[in-house]
Amino acid sequence: MNVEEYLEKFYKLDDLEKLIINLANETKTPILTLSKAKILGLLVKLKNPSNCFEIGLGIGFSTYQILKNINENARLISIDKNFHRIELFFENIYKKFDLKLKKKLSVYPLDAFYCMDIFLNLNQKFDFIFIDSQKRDYFYFYDYFVNLTEKDALIVIDNITYNMQTFKEVTKRSEKYMEGVNLVKKFINKISNSEHFLNFFIPAGDGMCCLVKL
Ligand SMILES: C[S@@+](CC[C@H](N)C(=O)[O-])C[C@H]1O[C@@H](n2cnc3c(N)ncnc32)[C@H](O)[C@@H]1O
Repeated sequence: MNVEEYLEKFYKLDDLEKLIINLANETKTPILTLSKAKILGLLVKLKNPSNCFEIGLGIGFSTYQILKNINENARLISIDKNFHRIELFFENIYKKFDLKLKKKLSVYPLDAFYCMDIFLNLNQKFDFIFIDSQKRDYFYFYDYFVNLTEKDALIVIDNITYNMQTFKEVTKRSEKYMEGVNLVKKFINKISNSEHFLNFFIPAGDGMCCLVKL
């Protein structure tokens, strides 16, 4: 038994968590590992944010962890550019949410850059952001993060080592993949030297990163 399998017993998963994990297995849709999902829940609980934003709804495993752990007045905007996954989420998961969960969530089928440009125009600020989208985009998200967050905001970023590729010297991957790895490396360099954020690494799976706005 590996740690992830053990955690399924340790946590006593609720019905929605079981449903999302089963749907992910059936449809081969990537979701956060359980260990990361629960770390995300803990961070949300401790931060107790009011205005949350998520890039990469998928079928909603991370979304559900955020919703479960924010207070009843807090709000989460979650986006995904993959319409099929949004459909899977609404047809299978969202309809099982109770009214309290539904009230906290807005989902938009939008690309992150388009959506964040709108937020910038509206001068929208968030105190919690979770990112689990295309890794090569992280580098280009940085300036948005600076402008869309208030002081002490927490940003949690998944897959920060890009499947451990950021610290390996030799890889036999396509040029496009290596370009992605280099962009994640550039993003890490940016956050490591940032005057806007404190940077914390969480060694779960291939790593999560937490940025705290100064
Ligand atoms: C790994 S999945 C998210 C899994 C989800 N966080 C969970 O735990 O269930 C990544 C998602 O990010 C979405 N995505 C990637 N790049 C995006 C972008 N630029 N804008 C919006 N969504 C994006 C993909 O369509 C995909 O559904």
